Amino acid sequence: MADFNSDFWHWYISILTILSILACVWLLRWMTSGYKKTDEVEDTGHVWDGDLTELNNPLPRWWLGLFYITIVFGGFYLLLYPGLGTFGGILDWTSKGSYEQEVERVEAEIGPLFARYQQTPVLDLVKDKDALKVGERLYASYCTTCHGSDARGARGYPNLRDKSWLWGGDPQSIKTTLTNGRIAAMPAWEGPLGGEAGVDEVAQYVLSLSGRATISELAEKGKAKYDIFCVACHGATGTGNTALGAPNLTDDIWLYGGSLTRISESIAKGRNGQMPAQGEFLGEAKIHLLTAYIYGLSQEN
Ligand code: HEC
Ligand code: HEC
Repeated sequence: MADFNSDFWHWYISILTILSILACVWLLRWMTSGYKKTDEVEDTGHVWDGDLTELNNPLPRWWLGLFYITIVFGGFYLLLYPGLGTFGGILDWTSKGSYEQEVERVEAEIGPLFARYQQTPVLDLVKDKDALKVGERLYASYCTTCHGSDARGARGYPNLRDKSWLWGGDPQSIKTTLTNGRIAAMPAWEGPLGGEAGVDEVAQYVLSLSGRATISELAEKGKAKYDIFCVACHGATGTGNTALGAPNLTDDIWLYGGSLTRISESIAKGRNGQMPAQGEFLGEAKIHLLTAYIYGLSQEN
């Protein structure tokens, strides 16, 4: 209300509000006056369907009383709380103050708790059911949009419950992932591999890495290309490299799908998954709890 830059609106709203309330009182009195105490009931003269007559009875007293109570309530409310223009009410209540009080109360309550959690090593937090509950709630607020409510991910969004990690599954690696975010750089290989045929060969070889049926002739040619273009990141045996976020290609767990079409697409066009950095947004204490929660998930099975 302090945003008003002239008194006009203050008076406009106040006078209009008070006049409306007075008008309600007047309306009530006007509608209820003029009834005589008789046993005879007047009718309004409206008759439907032959014999349905509209009677004109006064409102029951309790009902009328309710109307007057709401008016008295309104009067007291406007006296105590903001409502009449810039008049703040004699209780000095503001929504901002009320919000700040709430925040202060919550901080006072959870501040020491978060501080204590932050001092506890992740490996101990994982055994603390209450800490994991807090972690679960944080996960639900900040991570489900991408990794799913069950943390099993979706295409392009890694499953956080399994033991297969792009960037490492030890507490420190997870914490680094959360704090700084991650950007995966898998270049597009269609050009270097000499087009679709080359991609096809390497894709066949990649299939063979996880023990799947392949056309061995193509896979063999693919291996030669793999050894040139792919070893640097995915390793000589295809087990990947967590320093680069290069996935293990031998475990038959696929971030972007494991069909021949999907694998060929990954190779031909490249992939650039991004995990947004959370460090500044969430702060150390929350990251620490989330790390414990995520690490705990992967230890469950
Ligand atoms: C510069 C490092 C680098 C090189 C070289 C590289 N990759 Fe990758 N590759 C990655 C990264 C990082 C990812 C993960 C991309 C992501 O998470 O978005 C990836 C993802 C993939 C995937 C998808 C895996 C999945 O789980 O869906 C396949 C398949 C793949 N690479 C095959 C290859 C092949 C075949 C070559 C050689 C032609 C190759 N990569 C060369 C870094 C590399
Ligand atoms: C905007 C979508 C998005 C949000 C929000 C998000 N992530 Fe991610 N996250 C990703 C993507 C995409 C990757 C995979 C990056 C890559 O391809 O290497 C990832 C990777 C990860 C990894 C690494 C997985 C591995 O195998 O190494 C962890 C751990 C992780 N996220 C945890 C979280 C947590 C905890 C939150 C909530 C604080 C979160 N993420 C929020 C998209 C998201």
